[in-house]
Amino acid sequence: MKITFKPKSVIAQNLETVKTPEKLTERELTRALRDAIIAEEGAIKQYETVVDATDNSKIKETLQEIADEERVHVGELQTLLNSLLKDEEDFLEEGKKEVEG
Ligand SMILES: [Fe+2]
Repeated sequence: MKITFKPKSVIAQNLETVKTPEKLTERELTRALRDAIIAEEGAIKQYETVVDATDNSKIKETLQEIADEERVHVGELQTLLNSLLKDEEDFLEEGKKEVEG
């Protein structure tokens, strides 16, 4: 039986993945929420691309349901972001008005 030892640096690297990260400042938290929104939007795009690219009705239906769940998550995350940034809704409203005229 061959016994192998992990070098210390690998062990430290593994610990980094399970160690509780430092607490975020509120500004950092807003960036984390924006990253999460981007990730949700990416997932929606990915699922809907597959929906449009297959004739398998079960897969189409299931993936569209998942994509719609991700759209709900976007709403949840945006609501959290709005709660941290008092002017966020104002900017969103300004953009809405610019499009609607
Ligand atoms: Fe999600």
